Amino acid sequence: MSIISITDLDFYYGKKHILSNINIEIFRGENVVVIGPNGAGKSTLVKIIAGVLEGYEGVVEIKDGARISYLPQRSVSIGDIFPATSEEVVLSGLVSKKGVFIFFDKKDRQKAKKAMQIAGVEHLEKRNIQDLSGGERQKVFIARSLVSEPDILLFDEPSTGIDAKSRADFYAFLKRLNKEHKITIIHVTHDLSVVSEDVDKVVCINKEICSCSSAEHFLHSDKLKEVYGKKNKFHIH
Ligand SMILES: Nc1ncnc2c1ncn2[C@@H]1O[C@H](COP(=O)(O)OP(=O)(O)OP(=O)(O)O)[C@@H](O)[C@H]1O
Ligand SMILES: [Mg+2]
Repeated sequence: MSIISITDLDFYYGKKHILSNINIEIFRGENVVVIGPNGAGKSTLVKIIAGVLEGYEGVVEIKDGARISYLPQRSVSIGDIFPATSEEVVLSGLVSKKGVFIFFDKKDRQKAKKAMQIAGVEHLEKRNIQDLSGGERQKVFIARSLVSEPDILLFDEPSTGIDAKSRADFYAFLKRLNKEHKITIIHVTHDLSVVSEDVDKVVCINKEICSCSSAEHFLHSDKLKEVYGKKNKFHIH
């Protein structure tokens, strides 16, 4: 059953055509990777799915009232703007639900604790976000995206700034969220090593080109060469 349905999507920034005739169906529980070169329109697409960018043509449907959590590209820099503890940052993920009057009760704090446990940052709870390393901050923001108990996670280059070991842990973590917590994942990345048998679908965007296929089909197709050049060689993990 599809959870996100995108039909004939077109988007312009001014006169510049950014996304052209994009059609994608994403099914409940899928683990989806979105790839494509810089400036291809990946972030634009996830912003439209997240509902933070309007003014597009076409139809973007989020089915059955599914809850979306969106982790924007470069969200860690938000930590430079306001002083707050990790716990407060995680709790702020509940703000849109709570409306203008912000009061966090015991239940909210338990949710924050659970999200921090899942993201492995419980020990950073009382630390000021400004004093954390880039990778630690990123994990706090991942906990923030989990606190609202979403059905769909939109992660825009979440592993940027995370070291190789933590990145491998992070990919395992994404797999767990997908398989155990049944969260539909849309993961924008430049790291093609993430395309493995755990990935259900690869959406490849290059401005006006979009291809949608299984991981295996993608790795054996000519799309890789078309989008990233002929020199790259990739293998299924
Ligand atoms: N606010 C904006 N105003 C005008 N043009 C924009 C704006 N944001 C993005 N663009 C342009 O839209 C195009 C697509 O940008 P987008 O951020 O979606 O690319 P991307 O695929 O996410 O790239 P990257 O891999 O570098 O993150 C780019 O040419 C970019 O310069
Ligand atoms: Mg981007």
